[in-house]
Amino acid sequence: MSNSANHNSSVVVAAGPAAFSSNAGHTPAATGPIRHLYVHIPFCARICPYCAFYKDLLDRSQTARFCEAILRDLDKQCAAFAISAKTIYFGGGTPTALTTSQLEFLLGGFHQRLDLSTLEEWTIEANPGSVSARKAALLRKLKVNRISLGVQSWDDRLLNILGREHNASQAERSFHTLRDAEFRNINIDIMFGLPGQSTEQWKATLERTITLQPEHISAYCLTYEEDTEFFLRQSRGELKANPDCDAGLFEMTMSILEAAGYQQYEISNYARPGFSSVHNRACWSGKDYLGIGPSAFSTVGMRRWQNLADYRAYADRVLSRQSPIGSTENLTSEMKRAERIALSLRTGEGISSALLNDRQQTIEEFVSLGLLRQSNGCFVLTRAGRSLADSVAEAFL
Ligand SMILES: C[S@@+](CC[C@H](N)C(=O)[O-])C[C@H]1O[C@@H](n2cnc3c(N)ncnc32)[C@H](O)[C@@H]1O
Ligand code: SF4
Repeated sequence: MSNSANHNSSVVVAAGPAAFSSNAGHTPAATGPIRHLYVHIPFCARICPYCAFYKDLLDRSQTARFCEAILRDLDKQCAAFAISAKTIYFGGGTPTALTTSQLEFLLGGFHQRLDLSTLEEWTIEANPGSVSARKAALLRKLKVNRISLGVQSWDDRLLNILGREHNASQAERSFHTLRDAEFRNINIDIMFGLPGQSTEQWKATLERTITLQPEHISAYCLTYEEDTEFFLRQSRGELKANPDCDAGLFEMTMSILEAAGYQQYEISNYARPGFSSVHNRACWSGKDYLGIGPSAFSTVGMRRWQNLADYRAYADRVLSRQSPIGSTENLTSEMKRAERIALSLRTGEGISSALLNDRQQTIEEFVSLGLLRQSNGCFVLTRAGRSLADSVAEAFL
């Protein structure tokens, strides 16, 4: 999951750019070294009609300059903050759309600039259409230890509707290529609620995913995001969301994945024991993180900022020693608290009772409705509650 959009939740985690003032002032105070880095690589070989992440069609004449800009931005962050990285997450877009030698230059640059002795998890998002044995071996050699593979569906007809650059057998080959390169922590992204997708098709997608035994599965309900082709087609009546059907598919997802040994540690995320994403858990629990690259958010202390989205403008700014920050916002304690509630409610650990001490009545109502339960000093969604997570979160905000 990227840090620039928040799928499957109606909760707005970071205010949109319009809510920010332009440009940051002085360096915000961090309470300790920054432990989490997010790097946004916006290139995609094809643009999928449902996707609202910041991305652009791959232009090979721009990528080398872009990689230079990312490393220059990293230099600036290293000068401004003490960084002792525990997790690095390369998201997109499609980081694997870069060539093997560009990835070598880029990741090698991270090795040169950062002390990676405390690094626990380095994730790269990969599209099955751009995985090769050579690329996989290089990523492994450069200490990437987690791959998030965007399979979306194992049905070729649905993959075609989704405008994907790969078919199901290519996706399966990519998975094996990654395993052969000794990746022992692989996530597979799949989506339900797709146009024309039957219950049987989704069940088959879950079962085929389980057969591959990935360590982690992200199962997202398709959202019709504004400014996407799918959203336009939905507003013209050509595509229809079906919330009742989606709720049934979500129920089925929880049952099938739990029976197969995957723990649902967040509404859309399931992992075999010991394989939940360290990076995502840190962000959901409100830890500071730095975002590098176009459109990336950073949050340090009470300050949040977002880089310019346009990758050419981002690179122009960074390479001419100007700030790439497009907007910045001072967070209040109340905003941080609301965000913590919204994000932690979606997790298996739940919300600490301390965050909710003035909301006794609301809690009691949800407990009596069977949507919340108490566990280890926290309030956690019950199975019935997980289907209504967004509505429960809204009641607390
Ligand atoms: C940032 S995308 C990057 C993955 C990679 N570029 C790819 O497509 O294979 C991360 C994941 O978000 C999910 N996603 C993207 N758009 C979505 C939408 N509109 N609704 C639900 N999930 C979505 C997909 O499962 C995708 O794999
Ligand atoms: S390849 Fe991934 S990031 Fe690119 S448009 Fe498709 S879903 Fe979005």
